[in-house]
Amino acid sequence: MSSKWKKTEALLRNPSIRNLIPKTVRFNKAQLKKMLDNYRMVYAKPDTGSYGNGVMRIHQKNGRFGYQHGERMKSFASLDALYEALRQETKHRSYLIQKGIHLLKYKGSRFDLRVMVQLNPNKAWETTGMIGRVAARRKIVTNFHNGGTPMPVSRLLSVHLSKSKAARKVKALEKLGVRTGITLRSKFPGLRVIGLDVGLDHSLTPWILEVNTSPDPYIFRRLPDKSVFRKIMRYARAHRSK
Ligand SMILES: Nc1ncnc2c1ncn2[C@@H]1O[C@H](COP(=O)(O)OP(=O)(O)OP(=O)(O)O)[C@@H](O)[C@H]1O
Ligand SMILES: [Mg+2]
Repeated sequence: MSSKWKKTEALLRNPSIRNLIPKTVRFNKAQLKKMLDNYRMVYAKPDTGSYGNGVMRIHQKNGRFGYQHGERMKSFASLDALYEALRQETKHRSYLIQKGIHLLKYKGSRFDLRVMVQLNPNKAWETTGMIGRVAARRKIVTNFHNGGTPMPVSRLLSVHLSKSKAARKVKALEKLGVRTGITLRSKFPGLRVIGLDVGLDHSLTPWILEVNTSPDPYIFRRLPDKSVFRKIMRYARAHRSK
């Protein structure tokens, strides 16, 4: 269940989720060209990666090509040169290319959201937690292991939305989490917990960047509201003891 490709395929089958998944294809030269022509900015990531490792941001601008990996940036005059360099980075690992989302920023740093969704003791999917992750300066991933900072969602949204609109956005994200759980479980029956990585663009569209099937619960300890972490652990224990 670690293949991002397999999970993406399963999610695409639900029409109410489909349009929130950035176009994703397997990495090869023809697809790289096509995706850059279509979107100008794309992300490349290992099919089975984690912690944001190996994730790259690639762009095409004014006839030049470039990519960023960690804080390293490289620039190229041709697609061929770009592709050769990326091939060195990806080595023999299976990679995906995904439409790049221009993530909203908080004090100049990109952020995304982690939405925790669990099968509750009544065997129904329930969104149990939500937390923002702010990337370290100049970084392209928000993961904690890559210097990202956890932050309450309300604080991040307050810069971009009124209080009432932010509350409505959170409700919509909770529902999206539940829909995603139901859809994935129909394909993977053992599934009990998921963590959605959701990126917001300027229009506040919630793009599902990835769905994790063993999401880290401990990040929720960083929220001021301790009841969130307690509930997440309670639900997790309820399943283990069966
Ligand atoms: N299409 C995209 N557009 C913009 N940013 C992206 C995109 N895909 C990934 N990112 C950024 O890179 C981060 C890492 O990507 P992703 O979650 O897909 O892989 P991962 O973190 O390595 O996997 P895991 O969450 O299991 O550790 C995301 O949290 C997000 O900040
Ligand atoms: Mg992730």
